[in-house]
Amino acid sequence: MNQASLPVRPAMAAAEARGDSVRVVRSDGTARDYDCMWLRDGCGCRRCRHPQTLERTFNLLGVPRDLAAASAEITAAGALKVVWANDGHVSEYDADWFGDREGLTGPHPHPHPRPWLWDSGLATRLPGHDHAEIMRDAEALHAWLGAIRDTGLALLRGAPCEPGEVVRIAERIAYPRRTNFGSRFDVVALANPNSNAYTGLEIHGHTDLVFYRTPPGIFLLHCLANDAAGGDSTFADGFRVAAALRDEDPEAFAVLTRVPFEFRFRDSDYDIRHRWPLIRLGEDGEAAEIRFNIQCMHAPAAAGEEMAAVYRAYRKFAALIDDARFKLRFRLAPGEVIGFDNSRVVHGRTAFDEAGGRHLQGIYIDHDEFLSRIRMLERSA
Ligand code: OGA
Ligand code: ZN
Ligand code: ZN
Repeated sequence: MNQASLPVRPAMAAAEARGDSVRVVRSDGTARDYDCMWLRDGCGCRRCRHPQTLERTFNLLGVPRDLAAASAEITAAGALKVVWANDGHVSEYDADWFGDREGLTGPHPHPHPRPWLWDSGLATRLPGHDHAEIMRDAEALHAWLGAIRDTGLALLRGAPCEPGEVVRIAERIAYPRRTNFGSRFDVVALANPNSNAYTGLEIHGHTDLVFYRTPPGIFLLHCLANDAAGGDSTFADGFRVAAALRDEDPEAFAVLTRVPFEFRFRDSDYDIRHRWPLIRLGEDGEAAEIRFNIQCMHAPAAAGEEMAAVYRAYRKFAALIDDARFKLRFRLAPGEVIGFDNSRVVHGRTAFDEAGGRHLQGIYIDHDEFLSRIRMLERSA
């Protein structure tokens, strides 16, 4: 589940209007005061929220700044009922209402539930899923997407080796995210490449599209052919690597969470730039986003006197990303699709012979679309 689950709270037993707050006493005797503006803003009645769109129609500026409750009581059904002093509007709040909001005062739940972190040991237990099943069956699709969400990557086997199949798979999830590389893109060696991905060069572990303000969230990479010498795939859990950096070199970790780098992409059609630190922390203080790509890191946006520390930290992080302790290395077989979280997992490949037959197709899906699809699969289950 993707919601912070709260412990069931004792029932509401009594309530009291206290000026700008309402006191609720629970059946275990504990009491808490709730801010009137917070309560009024959250009213879910048909006059305050559109019953069809579920969006708010109530405008907070329509009530006075010194808003107060005229009365407060617990109904027979166990909900809090408040009558507002300014206009006599009646609001009711049940246990679900409180559960849905009070959890927001803790640290923001991770975009994904707290992921378990992995290292090279994942190689022997990499989650594998079946193409035919996920295309046909909602539960199988949910299992694959859940594995991508929780582990950061999961393999699909048995996909037809047809160009465009990756689009059909993506559309099973959501609208693909179009980028400067197009909607679906072919990873092959090109005579006139606009990315190192389209050469036979080795690619160090990286995340994609770092130069966008919002890089694509999920990357699906489908192997159509892999006959060239070389071209093994590499992956590492960026959150695990960040945790190792923090353990082994807290100073370097702090620098990389604070100092932005300028990322750039330029070709004949595009000039995209964004500045961001390599590691973004979530509210819980854990790594929540990795942005790392030596190919597109233009330069650190750091003061001269800071540069030595920035490069020391950068080299340390790059070396850990490449460290055998954390790396998976395997060869994608035709018909395999690897799905992974581009804000967490770094991917790379070994060099390959451009004369050989290596053909992958890639496509992206944004996090919001991906996570919504998982929730919808859970809603209909
Ligand atoms: C890419 C990429 C890896 C590969 O296209 O972004 O990193 O295996 N490709 O070719
Ligand atoms: Zn209302
Ligand atoms: Zn890439």
